[in-house]
Amino acid sequence: MAGVLKSMVDEILPRVKEWRWDIHQHPELSKQEHRTAGIVEPELAALGLEVKRIGETGVLGVLRGAREGKTLALRADMDALSLPERTGCPYSSKVEGVMHACGHDAHTAILLGVAHVLSRLKDDLAGKVKFLFQPAEETTPEGGAPLMIQGGVLEHPRVDMILALHVWPDLPVGTIGVRSGPMMAASDRVFLKVLGSSCHGSAPHQGVDAIVAASQVVVALQTIVSRNVSPLESAVLTFGTVKGGHRYNVIADEVVLEGTCRTLKPEIRKLVPERLASLASQVAAGFGATCEVEYVYGYPPCVNTPEGAALLKQAGTEALGERNVVEMEYPWMGAEDFAFYLERVPGALFLLGSTPEGGQTIPLHNSAFLVDEAALPVGIEVFVQAALNYLKG
Ligand code: NI
Repeated sequence: MAGVLKSMVDEILPRVKEWRWDIHQHPELSKQEHRTAGIVEPELAALGLEVKRIGETGVLGVLRGAREGKTLALRADMDALSLPERTGCPYSSKVEGVMHACGHDAHTAILLGVAHVLSRLKDDLAGKVKFLFQPAEETTPEGGAPLMIQGGVLEHPRVDMILALHVWPDLPVGTIGVRSGPMMAASDRVFLKVLGSSCHGSAPHQGVDAIVAASQVVVALQTIVSRNVSPLESAVLTFGTVKGGHRYNVIADEVVLEGTCRTLKPEIRKLVPERLASLASQVAAGFGATCEVEYVYGYPPCVNTPEGAALLKQAGTEALGERNVVEMEYPWMGAEDFAFYLERVPGALFLLGSTPEGGQTIPLHNSAFLVDEAALPVGIEVFVQAALNYLKG
């Protein structure tokens, strides 16, 4: 099968590259993926799939195999990011200040390629494949996955297993990264408002300095990770902005801090905000100030189930050879809204190596980030092999 599969992927590859160039040149921000959905929808329909719009820009395609069986879902996200492209590639973004800096153009093109190959192989499939083209992955805290789930993509027929990929610059092209258990972190937002009272900067004893209180709060909160979270577990608490004060010689009456909290396990995700609320308000109180805490839950941790990870490892080994399947030692503390599906259905996300051998590693969400084209067939092969294995009946 491996040789046949590779030749089928080779046949569709020129079109996959065309789609990818086209989508890359016309990036669309979250919930505005109208043009992209407009490419996906007719392609799926032309393959004979049952196609349905989910919300305004989500697309679901259902492929029925020759025999009855389980239902596998494959998901791609389609949205781009608001940053200017500086890749210098011949198919650079034509939209000022918007680019595919997270590789979702490649995700979309790969999944279209998979739909083509699997629709040719449907006589070998016992069951159904649902293709989920999802909007708005980049919109933490709400995400686009909940829109798809509310739109019913996991039901009728119920999805038994769901898979996804994300391009990965830290891995070379030709390889994939897989792990069982946490793959990416929960991403939550933290808002703190420290309130004091202002007075003349030369007479601080007459007011309550919100800057001094907020500084102590920031330092104290570092102890949540170092003193409250087990040394064998992981959490990140980062404050990215501090805003406060009115004038150089006035004691500030208000400081607003914004941060992000990343965790891998539900119990740690519960512990951090509890400690945060208690510690921030008590430290502020110690300085005569008050602290309002708002903790906004975003994407949950993206946790690969053992059966999902095993399916991907097996498919990767068959399609690429064992040495090209990298067992990822650690999860990544970034987030993915694919996590919402994994809260409901078994499955897994794998990392698709996207940097050419010997090439410079440019991180995701960077203006110069570009997926190497040679990664496209690799992603298609792994998805197709996984579908064939899972729906072999
Ligand atoms: Ni992404």
